Amino acid sequence: MQDIVRPIDQCRVCGHNDWLDVVSFGSTPLAGNLLGPEDDPGEETRFPLEVVVCRECHLMTLRHVIEPDVLFGHYRYVASDAGSIVQHMRRLVDLCTRRLGLTGQDLVVEFGSNTGAHLELFQQAGMRVLGVDPARNLAEMANDRGVESIPSGFTAHVGREIASGHGRARLVYGRQCFAHIPDIHEVLDGVSALLAPDGLCFVEVPYLVELLANNQFDTIFHEHLSYFSLGALCRLFESHGLRVVDVQTAEVHGGSIVVFAAPAAADPEVRPSVTDMLAEEQRQGIAEERTYRRFAERTERLRTQIRDLVRGVVADGGTVAGYGAPTKGSALLDACGLGRAEIRFCSDTTVLKQGKILPGSRIPIWSPEQAAEQVPDYYLLLAWNYAPEIIEKEKAFLENGGRFIVPIPEPRVISAETVL
Ligand code: TMP
Ligand code: ZN
Repeated sequence: MQDIVRPIDQCRVCGHNDWLDVVSFGSTPLAGNLLGPEDDPGEETRFPLEVVVCRECHLMTLRHVIEPDVLFGHYRYVASDAGSIVQHMRRLVDLCTRRLGLTGQDLVVEFGSNTGAHLELFQQAGMRVLGVDPARNLAEMANDRGVESIPSGFTAHVGREIASGHGRARLVYGRQCFAHIPDIHEVLDGVSALLAPDGLCFVEVPYLVELLANNQFDTIFHEHLSYFSLGALCRLFESHGLRVVDVQTAEVHGGSIVVFAAPAAADPEVRPSVTDMLAEEQRQGIAEERTYRRFAERTERLRTQIRDLVRGVVADGGTVAGYGAPTKGSALLDACGLGRAEIRFCSDTTVLKQGKILPGSRIPIWSPEQAAEQVPDYYLLLAWNYAPEIIEKEKAFLENGGRFIVPIPEPRVISAETVL
């Protein structure tokens, strides 16, 4: 156990070692580690889940780091193909193509490229693409769809190898993976080694300010090591000779930021979006202890309210199932002490997840087709980040008297009457 879990000694961004305790969820199983029906139902390994904030740069992070191989060796997270995500990916392709004037000769490299769905869009636009992802099973899926992918973490060595084999890249990016990586300095060394002098790098991360403001406590789980503000990212990029030149907000994964950086040596212009957001972060109290204390208080209140709401429905004879089986859903159920006694199953469209069992709560994951045979009175919307499109898609469920319990940012019940 000591070999695979270690307490953080220095801040991943600034190197200081002065932490403010934020919230603790005790010891929990790995929320993304879905079990197969054949897996031994014995005691699961639990790992400490505590969140702290660096007093120097305000990086929010888990206090303990788990060996990445344990978390990501065989990774079941398949990037979503929900309409809102595909639309967002297309927007990013258009924006980068326009801004960099990308042509067919240009190389685009993604780290944490998952099954290659995003790179495929660049490929369709004519660019040369290359993916890098440590999960072998996912890199293989990407290669199968024709998106060349290296099964590896992204390091300085990998960056140099790609540069010498394929030339420098005009665009190097990572979406929704930066928070998972313990050694982000190594990744940025890789970016520096690979990026063309006139190139651009972007990272997309869930935004700490949204997490705090919207009580997204369920997005805190072992895979998510870091919770970034723009300020922390600026500091990180700067220490690698990269300058943050632009930032955009994106309504994905509960509210994310896309942070663009360019080699500082070229003295690139910084757009007002950066200075504006940095000022707004200060106004939002990112540097104040009470901001984190209040978040912890709201988290404790929500854990109880969500549990009481679901148990109340069950006590009144209602049936409840989970809508979606995202990793944060398994984290939420665990944090709220909900299990099979309350939740019959979770319905999820991801084929890889169907037939599996949630860790901790041991709730089975069903396909939507299987779920249609035992429609519950209430769906607990674990995939709340897709609430608008799911509620639209499930009109018939609501019209037949079904209800959604939306847990985040505040627990609320939605019925056909509330939607109309
Ligand atoms: P994500 O937030 O990590 O993308 O996970 C969302 C999960 O919810 C994913 O496993 C797919 C599932 N899902 C459904 O089952 N039905 C839906 O309509 C949507 C949008 C997602
Ligand atoms: Zn720090």
